[in-house]
Amino acid sequence: MTPPTAEQIQQAWEDPKLANLLYHDWEADTYDDKWSISFDERCISYATDRFRNVAGEQGWPYGSALELGCGTGFFLLNLKLGGVLDDGHVTDLSPGMVDVAKRNGTHLGFELEGRVADAETLPYPDESFDLVIGHAVLHHIPDLEQALREVMRVLKPGGRFVFAGEPTAKGDFVARKLSQLTWSAAKRITHLPGLRDRYARSDAELDESSRAAVLEAVVDIHTFDPTELRQMCERVGAVDVSTVTEEFTASWFGWPVRTVEAAVKPGALGWKWAYFAYGTWLALSALDAKVFNKIVPAQYFYNVSVTGIKA
Ligand SMILES: C[S@@+](CC[C@H](N)C(=O)[O-])C[C@H]1O[C@@H](n2cnc3c(N)ncnc32)[C@H](O)[C@@H]1O
Repeated sequence: MTPPTAEQIQQAWEDPKLANLLYHDWEADTYDDKWSISFDERCISYATDRFRNVAGEQGWPYGSALELGCGTGFFLLNLKLGGVLDDGHVTDLSPGMVDVAKRNGTHLGFELEGRVADAETLPYPDESFDLVIGHAVLHHIPDLEQALREVMRVLKPGGRFVFAGEPTAKGDFVARKLSQLTWSAAKRITHLPGLRDRYARSDAELDESSRAAVLEAVVDIHTFDPTELRQMCERVGAVDVSTVTEEFTASWFGWPVRTVEAAVKPGALGWKWAYFAYGTWLALSALDAKVFNKIVPAQYFYNVSVTGIKA
């Protein structure tokens, strides 16, 4: 996708929805590489674990499911591969993302129904779906309570929603600080003589990252307190609402690792790095779940997931 012009970036400062559309359209074709998204055991277990940890396994497979802010289809397609749902519909504000999600579905042998749609005004009749899902999308939606009302409207009675991968306020603060420190250290280190040729990104790539960073500052609208998120879901009429938080030490490791990966030439770190990064993240996640989950308050973890039912 072509990068947005300086004029579009200027307009986007005033309009977070336009910023989201421009930024994610721009990212669509490279998004899977940037976030190491795949449709295999690693991502199937990541997606199904996030779902199971907040909503359990009852109801699997859900008959018809809608995803909001689908991106390239990471959550819905991996949940489908993991046996969580049958019939998948994907929506996103960004036309580029809907196209890539459908293309990824086709490669996996699924014909997804996809629409460009704003989560605040879903283009579906009342009571259409057994399940509504989203991953890392709620924090981008300006009027989140309106979007949750739409979720309740399109759910069938007894239907469930599951939103995962949302940043908590405290977790996000720490992750951003660590990422900023890592970015400036990585830029300096990769420009050292002897390392530059192998690791440093070109000036043009760094310039593109800086322009992306301008939009990034506008697209991330909310961070969450888990209790307030639960209360908002209850206000729109959901019942049996619950939240879980995950990634404490895992996020202190994971965000710097992602930042290093973004700061160096694609592929420069090799498979040993990927193996080390994923293995360490898994070990720290297990430590967080078994130990820190019992002694650290929920709002200090990075990720919050929420589920509820339409009565
Ligand atoms: C961080 S990405 C996550 C994508 C995908 N769910 C994933 O986990 O890989 C957020 C997605 O939400 C979409 N989005 C942002 N605002 C939206 C809105 N108001 N309605 C629908 N989608 C929106 C963006 O276009 C983007 O694709």
